[in-house]
Order: sequence, then C-alpha cells, then structure tokens
Amino acid sequence: MRIRRRDALGQLFAMCAGVTRLGAEQGIAPDDPVLEPANVMDFARLAQTKLDPVAWDYLEGGSEDEVSLRDSREAFNRIIIRPRALVDVHEIDLSLELFGKKLSFPIILDPAGGKDCFHRDGEMETAKAAAAAKAIHITNGGIDKLTETGKGPVWWQVTTGGEFRTARTMTAFVRRLENQGCSGICFTTDIMYVSHRERNIHNRFVRSWCSLPGGIPRDAQGILPREGAPERTGIYPSRPFPTPTWETVQQLRSLTKLPIVLKGILIQEDARKSLECGVDGIIVSSHGARQLDHVGGTIEALPEVVAAVDGKIPVLIDGGFRRGTDILKALALGATAVAIARPYLYGLAAFGQKGVERVVELLRTELALDMALAGAPNLAAIDRSLVRIRGGSF
Ligand SMILES: Cc1cc2nc3c(=O)[nH]c(=O)nc-3n(C[C@H](O)[C@H](O)[C@H](O)COP(=O)(O)O)c2cc1C
Repeated sequence: MRIRRRDALGQLFAMCAGVTRLGAEQGIAPDDPVLEPANVMDFARLAQTKLDPVAWDYLEGGSEDEVSLRDSREAFNRIIIRPRALVDVHEIDLSLELFGKKLSFPIILDPAGGKDCFHRDGEMETAKAAAAAKAIHITNGGIDKLTETGKGPVWWQVTTGGEFRTARTMTAFVRRLENQGCSGICFTTDIMYVSHRERNIHNRFVRSWCSLPGGIPRDAQGILPREGAPERTGIYPSRPFPTPTWETVQQLRSLTKLPIVLKGILIQEDARKSLECGVDGIIVSSHGARQLDHVGGTIEALPEVVAAVDGKIPVLIDGGFRRGTDILKALALGATAVAIARPYLYGLAAFGQKGVERVVELLRTELALDMALAGAPNLAAIDRSLVRIRGGSF
C-alpha cells in the first residue's frame, strides 16, 4: 500500500474537516475511544481490563511453564536492524501477491477458537473486520453467510484434521468449502492433543462458558461454577482414531485445487515434506506457544524453514508479533507475510470489529514507518542484509 503526498494532503484535509484519515476511511470520529490505544500493547492492557480474568487467561496464556511464550517475544530482541541511509522513501509500498491474490499488506489474521470469550459474535466481528481491511482471515467457521457473499478473496477455513478421518468426510469437507467460495484451507498440524494450559486448569475454565449468552457465569459473589468439564492434568493421552499424517496431506492435495497451507511447521525436515506433498504454503508456528513448550521463539525457527523451502512456496510465520519492527525482521529473514492472533483478539475484546480493524491498521502503519526509517521502500527491498543477529546466529 502506497502512502503518497496526495494521500498526506487528503489526510490534512480530512483532519480539517474533523475526521482523521482513518476516520475518513472507516467513519470513525476523532474522539472515538478506539483511537486512544497507541499500539498493540495498549490494546492488550485495555482488553485485560474489559475481560473476565478467566477469559483473559484463556486469551493470553501459553502451555506449561510458558517458556516458549516468553521466548516468542524475547527472540525478537536478538535481531538487530541494519538501516540504510539516504534511500528515497517518499512512497512506501507494502503490497504483495499471495496465493494468487493481490494483498495491500503482508499481515493476515490467524485462526482463534473461542472468540465468543472476548466479544459477542466474535468470529463474525473478526470476519467483517478482515473484509473491511481486505486481509486474509483464517476462520474457525460459522461465517458461511458472509463467505457466500463472495466478498473475500479472504476466507480460509482452518481444520485440525477431524474432517479427514475417512475419505468420505474429507471429500465432503473439501466440496463444502469449494461451494462456499472459501479461498483456501489451513491445516493446523500441531494440535493432535490439547496441551496443559495451566492457567485454564487452575481457573477450572470450561470453554463452553464462552457460548453462554451472559459470558463467563459468575454468581453474585463472583464465584465460578464447580460443575462442567474443566481441562485437567493427569489424563493419559490417547485418541480413538489414528491422527493425521503426511499421507493425509497428500490425500487432501489430490482432492482439491484450493491452496493448502500447513500451520505448525517448525523444522526443516517438515518443510521439505511439505514441499513433497505439494502444499502451497507453510506457517511457521507454535500455536502461539499454546502447544508443546520449549520450542523456542518461532522467529528462531524461521531461517531453517526458509532455507529448506528455498523460495518454492511462501513461508508465513506467527507468534509474538506485536510491532512493525517484529514484522520487518521476519520479512528480512525470508517470511513472505506474518500472521497474528492475540493482537486482533485484544482489539476484538476492547471494541469488537472496530478494534480488530484498528489493530491491523496500527500494525500496517507501524510496518510502513519502520520500512521508511530502515530505508526499504517496498517489500522487495527487504532482504537478509537488513538484519543481523546478536551473537551471529540463533
Ligand atoms: C485464544 C486463541 C485461540 C486459538 N485457537 C486456534 C485454533 O483454533 N486453531 C489454530 O490453528 N490456532 C489457534 N490459535 C493459535 C493462533 O492461530 C496462532 O498460531 C498464535 O496465537 C499466533 O501467536 P500470537 O497470538 O502471538 O499472534 C489460537 C490462539 C489463541 C490466542
């Protein structure tokens, strides 16, 4: 997306007319509280004040000791940007082509289950925000009506493989998505079991609470119900059916021309297998540090996956992206685009659709500004020479 002199003048004009440029674009008045948070972390603080503490822990938490959760942020601090001086940056272009579609910026919205914990009708609020921002949204489902409008080149359906148990269920799943005008399939590979998310376990959190009309059901004394089926430890893992394998991915590939991305790839061996299966993209991801702990920050895994893929398919990444500089660093290390979950969930919790749009806008503009300051006026100008890693390598 270009920011030109004409746009800057337009912004000035709009401000004189009592509306900010964003307001002019989205119909937001300059005193709207959605404009107050200056960055993603401000949105996080606001979301925390608005949510029940149990819902907040569900949103924010990671698994077990949350080592990966801390790593996912701290790893960015080891990457140092090498800014280029005296480059003409009067126009900043964030546009790219991804899976055959033109996008205005390299940020997409990750799947996140349980959005009703954060806002009523959370999935739909998010889907509408994604449509307004023209961003790819990997939906957890339930937005069929919106999909049918064909508004998005943007909808991707997530699956954890439950639909792939038999050839018949896999085919039915794929045909339904094709008929609904879904743009692609995101297969999440890292959640064959749910990890111990111990904040939820200590809270005796029950996911179905989020679907209740009143939200988290506390009594007048603020006490949570004792019944229900909270997550627990001490249950030996087993599943009644075989979990998906690389063969499953091959079967899926043979069934559809829809783009397929595998989410949850962290090692070069799996990146190569993904290529062999003919998938269209990879998301380097640790499920927001919510599954296996001690896998490091995803940004640390990115270089080996990028090297293995060798430019043959797009490599996306998620996990801990909160700043334009984080995105810039990932692009410099070879990512094609970045995906976010908690940041837009903060926006959703704070303001619904409007909050999601604003978070995306903040990250988009931060990235544009950081690119300008780093002397990289477009995505093609961002390469490995734009960063160095403290200590040599990860
Ligand atoms: C509340 C919540 C629910 C999530 N649900 C899903 C899900 O249903 N499927 C999935 O593939 N990933 C899920 N994720 C993981 C995200 O898609 C993503 O990989 C991760 O959160 C990215 O890191 P970030 O939250 O730091 O941006 C969830 C994450 C959160 C925070």
